[in-house]
Parts: sequence; structure tokens; C-alpha cells
Amino acid sequence: MVLLGPPGAGKGTQAKIICDRIGVPHISTGDLLRKSVADRTPLGEKAEAYIKKGTLVPDGITLEMIAERLSTGGCADGFVLDGFPRTVPQAEGLKDCLERLHAPLDYVLFINVPRGTTTQRLGSRRTCKACDALYHLVFNPPARPDRCDSCGGELFQREDDRQETITARLDVYGRQTMPLVNYYRAQGLLREIDGVGKVEEIKDRVFQALEIEGS
Ligand code: AP5
Repeated sequence: MVLLGPPGAGKGTQAKIICDRIGVPHISTGDLLRKSVADRTPLGEKAEAYIKKGTLVPDGITLEMIAERLSTGGCADGFVLDGFPRTVPQAEGLKDCLERLHAPLDYVLFINVPRGTTTQRLGSRRTCKACDALYHLVFNPPARPDRCDSCGGELFQREDDRQETITARLDVYGRQTMPLVNYYRAQGLLREIDGVGKVEEIKDRVFQALEIEGS
């Protein structure tokens, strides 16, 4: 399954809930790229400048990373792709890769959220350095502003969550990723939900759209 939506739509939040429920890996290209940057790998060094500016890392890099991740095990019973694909060439590359793995896409879930809401969500996001848990200082605040409720790890603000970078990311989304909505709609794979509301309400819409029990 692919989760599609603008920066701040809640893809990561909902991906974690889906993956906990159905027991498949959550594969986020953003998380993989940030880890490569933190580990100072050659891939991370190539990707860092793009992430800082809020532009897309070149398709070749993300396609190679995803092909490697999907073939390294743990994905035989399915997976949730979060933040990939983001361009039509990435979607075409994913199709080829999944054909080789005999693993067709079941769903593309589009979480539709207006720009004002995403900006508000991204500006106050906090992420745990240790376990990647997500918080929002207003909508889902941790008990202590600098510590993760789950593991006690340190919370940080992503470098690309500065206002000017948020604007750049939303513009890039409109130009390069939005065309995927029609691309997947034409293939009959798209399911769309309204992503405005509380996390629990969105979870119910997601489960209903994906026909997961417990909605
Ligand atoms: P990536 O990490 O994928 O970022 P993104 O797509 O911009 O999405 P976000 O992680 O910002 O938002 P989200 O939708 O996951 O929302 P979240 O659940 O966190 O990519 C970062 C960068 O990496 C890109 O700019 C690019 O440079 C590069 N990159 C990544 N993939 C790439 C690719 N395929 N090709 C090329 N380059 C790539 O929620 C946000 C906040 O809102 C949180 O604080 C959360 O607690 C809160 N929240 C969530 N749901 C709700 C709700 N219902 N109500 C209130 N608050 C909520």
C-alpha cells in the first residue's frame, strides 16, 4: 500500500497505526533518508542538501533505496510505503520493482488535507530521536516538551519544519506529487479520505477505506 498526501497530512502518524494493526513494515523514505544523513553515509551526503531546501532527492537515489529495502526481507506479507512514490517516474519505477517481486499494489490511500492545516501541524511537530514517535505541541503534546512519553528519548524539531522550508515542501508537493492522485485514480487504485480531524477520527476513516477491522 502507498500513503499519499501533502507534507503534514498525517501519513507517518497513520502509517504507524496501520502497521501496528496489520503487522507489516512501515517504510518511510523520509525516515530512511534522514537516517542516512545522520549516519553520514554517501547516500546521506548526496541527499542532505535537497532535504534542507525542501526539494526532492533525485528519483534514481530514492528508487534504488526502495528497491533495496523491499528486497531485504520482512516485506513478504505486505508493507506500507510512506512518502514514496512522489513523482510519476518514481511511480513507474515502483511498478517495475513490484512486478519483479510479484507484489502488486493493493491500495493507494490519499489523505487529503488543506494547506493551512498542514502548515499548522508541521510548525509544532516534535519527533523522538530514539523511537521516532510523533508528537504535536498543541494537538498531541508529550507530558514533557522535550521527552518522549513512550521511551523517554529526546524530542527534536526537524530541520525542514522551518516556515520557509515548509512553504517550499508544499509547493514541491503541488507541482511534483499531486499528479500522482490522477495517475493512481486512472488505475483504479486510489482511495481518498478527508484528513482533517482528530488522529482517532482519521484512523477510523483510514480503517474503513482500507477495510481493516476495528474501525
Ligand atoms: P518526509 O519525511 O516524507 O516528509 P513529508 O512527506 O513532507 O511528510 P511529513 O513527514 O512532514 O508529514 P506526514 O504526512 O508524515 O505527517 P505526520 O504524521 O508527521 O520527506 C522529507 C524530505 O525527504 C522531503 O522534503 C524530500 O527532500 C525527501 N524525500 C522523502 N521521500 C522522498 C521521495 N520519495 N523522493 C524524493 N525525495 C524524498 O504529522 C505531522 C504533524 O501533525 C505531527 O506533529 C503529528 O503529531 C500531527 N498530526 C498528525 N495527524 C494529526 C491530526 N489528525 N490532527 C492534528 N495533528 C496531527
